[in-house]
Amino acid sequence: MEVVPLASAAETAVVAADIVEAVVRRKPAAVLGLATGSTPLPAYRELIRRRAAGTGPSYAAVTCFNLDEYVGLPAGHEQSYRATIARELTDGLGISPDQVNGPDPSPDGLPGAGERYEALIAQAGGIDVQFLGIGADGHLAFNEPGSSLASRTRIKTLTTQTRKDNARFFSSVDEVPNHVLTQGLGTILEARHLLLIASGEGKAAAVATAVEGPVSASCPASVLQLHPHVTVLLDQAAAARLDRLAYYSEVYAAKPAWQGL
Ligand code: F6R
Repeated sequence: MEVVPLASAAETAVVAADIVEAVVRRKPAAVLGLATGSTPLPAYRELIRRRAAGTGPSYAAVTCFNLDEYVGLPAGHEQSYRATIARELTDGLGISPDQVNGPDPSPDGLPGAGERYEALIAQAGGIDVQFLGIGADGHLAFNEPGSSLASRTRIKTLTTQTRKDNARFFSSVDEVPNHVLTQGLGTILEARHLLLIASGEGKAAAVATAVEGPVSASCPASVLQLHPHVTVLLDQAAAARLDRLAYYSEVYAAKPAWQGL
């Protein structure tokens, strides 16, 4: 795991955008894995800003896969993850909606939605770079604590805490769906490069457990320790509880320029 302690969320956005742009420049038909929530928004805005300024790569040939989706919202609901990703990122990058995939939460599609989504990802050749956030309880995508470390895309029940955390996007917590379709931890581990971003003190404990604690289903994000290419971008507050913080900073400062992230 490459832990990169940075000064601010704005700095994590710049480094995340550099990483994604490098992937797309190297492979114009790259496959991007996209997360929702507040954390990736500064990075998404930075990517859109660069493209609008004419310095970003073309995303015309890119394919995207959303990490998860609510179950139970009407199709096209503005808080569905499909609508959110279009609004916050892909429309701004000129990626057409038919290049953006998400798990199918329709009542008819639900049985078998996980298997179909896995097949689509495989058909696309797998995910080149996967954006990830982390829940205050250590969840990764919507694999809540206790999820199998080998899990595949499937329906999950959100914890009361996660529904409360996500209530800010709705008029009340009662409107937050109980269920989601989420890529499993085993699915996420198959992406070639995992990009975990965390900001704010509310994430500090979860980050420390995920990065320095034991690998355990009690902290689903700890499964990242098993992946050979993970970049963890942290602002100061999110990094504050790491025991090896000084070392991570030394490693990043001494990183050979040719190596890249
Ligand atoms: C979102 C997702 C979640 C969030 C996590 C953090 O697609 O899968 O795991 O990344 O809940 O959410 P924020 O970024 O809003 O703190």
